[in-house]
This record gives sequence, structure tokens and C-alpha cells, in this order.
Amino acid sequence: MRMEEKERLNRQMQKRYVWLRVRNGYKSLKNSKPKRFVLATFYTVVLLAWIFNKNRFSLKDVDFISPAFAALSKLVWPIMLVVGTVFLLLLFGTPVNAGRIINEFRRIGLINSAGETPILTAKYKDEKQSEVTVLTFDGVGIPLPEWENKRQRIEAALNLHVVKLAEGKNKREVLIFTVPAGKPLPERLEWRDSYLTKDDSTLVLGQSLLGVVGVDLAKIPHILLGGSTGSGKSMLLKLLLMQALKKGHAVCIADFKGGVDFSAVWHEKCRMCFDEDALLTLLTKLVNELELRKRVLRESGCPNLDAYNRRTGKRWQRYIFACDEVAEVLDKTGLSKEQKEKVNLIESKLAVIARQGRAFGIHLILATQRPDANIIPGQIKSNLDFRVCGRADTVLSQIILDSTAAAEQIPKDAAGRFLLYDGTVFQAYLFDEHSL
Ligand SMILES: Nc1ncnc2c1ncn2[C@@H]1O[C@H](COP(=O)(O)OP(=O)(O)O)[C@@H](O)[C@H]1O
Ligand SMILES: [Mg+2]
Repeated sequence: MRMEEKERLNRQMQKRYVWLRVRNGYKSLKNSKPKRFVLATFYTVVLLAWIFNKNRFSLKDVDFISPAFAALSKLVWPIMLVVGTVFLLLLFGTPVNAGRIINEFRRIGLINSAGETPILTAKYKDEKQSEVTVLTFDGVGIPLPEWENKRQRIEAALNLHVVKLAEGKNKREVLIFTVPAGKPLPERLEWRDSYLTKDDSTLVLGQSLLGVVGVDLAKIPHILLGGSTGSGKSMLLKLLLMQALKKGHAVCIADFKGGVDFSAVWHEKCRMCFDEDALLTLLTKLVNELELRKRVLRESGCPNLDAYNRRTGKRWQRYIFACDEVAEVLDKTGLSKEQKEKVNLIESKLAVIARQGRAFGIHLILATQRPDANIIPGQIKSNLDFRVCGRADTVLSQIILDSTAAAEQIPKDAAGRFLLYDGTVFQAYLFDEHSL
């Protein structure tokens, strides 16, 4: 880029920057009494001065001043009003440290192809969590993944801990949720029954610095848990299943390790299956149930299970199918042709549920260390939208979340610490199986 062009862009950016600040200042008036008071005071003073001066003294009386200048002098007060308003709005709309943050971002290379840095447009405390400060940026077209990649450097530049990066109301806006640096998540969070949600479809997983992390199965029906051995997948799976049981859902568990991972109480309360044949029978039943529900819903004109239950007063149960170590079930390496065919059948049933289960209240929760395409076929995996990743290296993180973030954000010795598909880090509730 030539020098003049760079300068032109820079000037353009400065202009936009000022305009954004003024607009921002105007918006901030709505929520700030002191700002409204300052603006009102300014208007009162200027208007009073205007009126007072008009009566006392007019430049027309001074005959050596040209009539044109005299006419212009009349405009002084209105101009002062306008300029003063713009100046005050600019002041109101400029967050503290805005200039410094822009410089820091330039230094760490968070710039778009035209060399522009994001512009801090607002800074406010989160309504729900007072220790969380939200920074709002005009992202100047820098896509969110690029912010994610620079997350650690952004943290260092801001000297804040970034809890979450998110898109704002429009694609251009980027929100950074921050807490003071050094405020860690707890290493242990005991489960309490009071955490159980009241509604039928929401299960909670743990807490992030932004509050409780939950999943509404009516919106995101299927869950994938991944991460290294010992990262806490099995415990998290059980935490979810325990809640499903307490809510009265039907829980089915496939455990090809002979059920040793699930204590007797699970065997009492859930439907367990330990081999391919039993699993195939179970999945066939679930798919039949799905087809039946589909027919009944279509005939009754209800869009989904909740609507049907509400309208008819019936209580169709939700079904949760869970499998810890799903690789034990779906991995085809070293199998005979006949066994492979059986696994293919299992896969095709799972795919039907993955594709259509949401409206009919049939859900999958699958856990495995490494859910790559050899283990979970694309047509199933692409429907497991609620992805959770425990401790992982970059490759594993990429397989589970399509980003390397888990490798960077979860300490190597952490257990029960997870990263969600939307960038939220949370500590899972630890729950005692004996309390089931
Ligand atoms: N939410 C948690 N909080 C604290 N420690 C946990 C949590 N979940 C798991 N752990 C610890 O990690 C160990 C391994 O957990 P586990 O669920 O078996 O991991 P994985 O199934 O990923 O191999 C557990 O024995 C427990 O000590
Ligand atoms: Mg496990």
C-alpha cells in the first residue's frame, strides 16, 4: 500500500471512530442519569447566556463592524450548542482507556487487511454477574476465530482474564467478557440437588465465570463429550444422566465393558445393554418410538413433544441414550464382516436419532476420548451440536471442537474442567454416585 493511501485510510478510520463514539455517547444517555444531567446543565447555561447577551448587547450597535460579521455573530450561540453537544457525546461515548487498548491491539497485530484495529465502543458491567466486565468492539471485519487465536495475547494486552469471546448483535460487533486477571475457576464444585432445573429439558453441567452452564435438549438435542483419559468425561456423563433420571426421563446406557463402570444403582434405574445384539434391539425400539411419535405429532398438528404434552395433557417421556467410550461400540478395526455389518446397522439407527430426535424427545449423549471420523461417522457427529471437550492436545481439541482452544485453555492437570463449543470454559459439578 502506498503512503498516501495508508494515510487516507487512517483518516477515514479516525472519522468513523469519532462518529462511532458520538453515536455511542448518545446511546449511553439512556442509562446514565449523570450524563443526562451534565448535558441538561450545559444546555441551560448556554441558553441563559444566549438570552442574557441578546438583551444586553448587540454587535449591530457597533457600527464599525460589517453587517455580514454581525449576522454571523448571531450564529455563535447555536454553533456553540451544536459543537458542545457533539463534544459532550464524544466524551460520554469514549470508554476509559479506549486509546490505550487500540494501541495494544495494534502492537499484538490484531488488525484487518487495511491495517485498522478494532475500536472499543463500550465497556460495562454485566447485568447478571457484577464481576464480569463486557468490552464491546467494532471488530472492523476481523473474524471471531482470529480473535480466538489471539486470545492469550489479548488477555496479556488488557491485563484481564477473557472468559468468553462472542459475536454481538451484528457480525461486525465483537464482545469480550472479562474478569480481573488471576480470578480462577474453583477446582472442585460439589453438586447440590438445588441445582436441578425446574423445566423438563434443561440439564446443567457446571459453572463458568459467567454463571451456570446448561444445555436445553429441546434446542440442542444431542451431546458429544470428548477429551483425554482422566479429564472427567465419565463423571460428567453420569452427572447428566443423574439429572435426566431425577426429571423422570427414560435413560438407556450402552456399556460394552460389562457394566463395571456403572454401579448397581444405575442398573436398577436405567435400561442397560452390554453387547451388539442387545444394543441393536434397543436402538430399533427407539427408532420405532421415534417413527410412532412422528406419525402422532403429524396427525395432531403439533410441532414437537413439548407442544404435544401441553396440548393433550399426556406426558410422553424423553428418552436419553448414553454411551461412555462409544469407540468400544463403533470402532470397526479388526472386526469380521458379519460384525462390521452389525456395527453398520447400529450406526444407521444412531444416525436416524441424531437427525430427527430433537422434535420427538429422543436424545444422544456420546462420550469418547477421540471422536474422529473413524469412530463417529460424519452423519452422526454433525448432529451432535453440543460439544464438550476436556483436557486435550491441539489435535484432539481440533477433532472435538474444530479449534485448538482446549489445548490452550485447560490446564494439563485439570479434571472436570471443560471447554464448550461456544468458547465457554467451565468446571463440572462433582457428584457422588452414592447419592443417586
Ligand atoms: N467435576 C470434577 N471435579 C473434580 N474432579 C473430577 C471431576 N470429574 C472427574 N474428576 C476426577 O477425575 C478423575 C477421572 O474422571 P473420569 O470421569 O473417570 O475421566 P474420563 O472418563 O475422562 O477418563 C475422577 O476419578 C475424579 O477424581
Ligand atoms: Mg471414562
